[in-house]
Amino acid sequence: MCPFPTACPTTSTLCPALTCRTWCATPCRERSQGMPVSSLASSASSSTKGCDASILLDNGERNMPQNGGLRRSVLDLIESIRATVHRACGPTVSCADITNLATKEAIMQSRLPGYDVPLGRRDSLTPATAQQVGILPGPDFNVQQLVRTFADRGFDKMDLVALSGAHTVGKASCGSFRNRAGENADFVRTLQQVCARNPGHLQDLDVTTPNTFDNRYYNNLQVGRGVLNSDMALTRDGETKNWVNNFAGNQGWFFSQFSTSMRKLAHLPGGNIGEIRNNCFRRNGNGESVILAAEVFAAFA
Ligand code: HEM
Repeated sequence: MCPFPTACPTTSTLCPALTCRTWCATPCRERSQGMPVSSLASSASSSTKGCDASILLDNGERNMPQNGGLRRSVLDLIESIRATVHRACGPTVSCADITNLATKEAIMQSRLPGYDVPLGRRDSLTPATAQQVGILPGPDFNVQQLVRTFADRGFDKMDLVALSGAHTVGKASCGSFRNRAGENADFVRTLQQVCARNPGHLQDLDVTTPNTFDNRYYNNLQVGRGVLNSDMALTRDGETKNWVNNFAGNQGWFFSQFSTSMRKLAHLPGGNIGEIRNNCFRRNGNGESVILAAEVFAAFA
């Protein structure tokens, strides 16, 4: 099942650009945002969404407002890794596997423990629908909504808080925290002023150490300096607040739990039907899809 021939170069040698942490963490987002979609699809039998590179397709879910922050450079880098791998090994590795592996690689380069990644996923034939994207957790979700969304996919409160720690890197556009309310009025005012001056401003999600994968995100939450309402929401439930405090006080604990929860995310169902795209941004042509269709029928025979 594993599509990586042993003779193939590893992703580390293929991807020197992965040393840039901001870049690297971004594929996580596909994992997180694919999560609800995955589970939807797993109950919908043959049309599986989730860890299936659907978000890379041109003119699809990628252009929906929920995914507006995805950077072009990230997408291009995934496609460039695909091109390199396919040159070396032939069309044997899917864009879904490459995204999953690149995410793990990025995490390991930030000195976190690695985890096993399931290989052999297929790239989807279609993007997620607006309805599927619409159920993703939003920046104004309260803690009950966050807990429910994650629980629906088998993630507990500890996973929720640990995975939200991905916001130790990366940026948000002004629209994502326009409604930020609650703790730390001075901080909220500053955010609003920056956006009033420059509506195109991209705000660091970790206002203390934005370029370092560390536990400062949680220290920020403790003093009301979380950028998104959904970040601050983690401090409003007894159990999630405990996890915020645990991770704020112990970076090693955060790192090990983050990797454990990422492993869970990487193993969500998805990508069992589809193709190995010859270009991550497009479905293969008709000829290439004939083989695929035969495989799909075989799977149901
Ligand atoms: C708990 C629910 C979550 C919500 C509501 C949420 C929401 C958001 C929002 C609104 C943004 C900013 C988008 C923009 O304005 O362009 C963002 C950025 C980001 N999120 Fe999340 N997120 C969640 C969980 C996660 C998880 C689980 C991960 C990874 C494991 C993750 C990784 C990231 C990263 C890396 C960025 C920065 C992207 C960039 O700089 O281009 N998020 N998130």
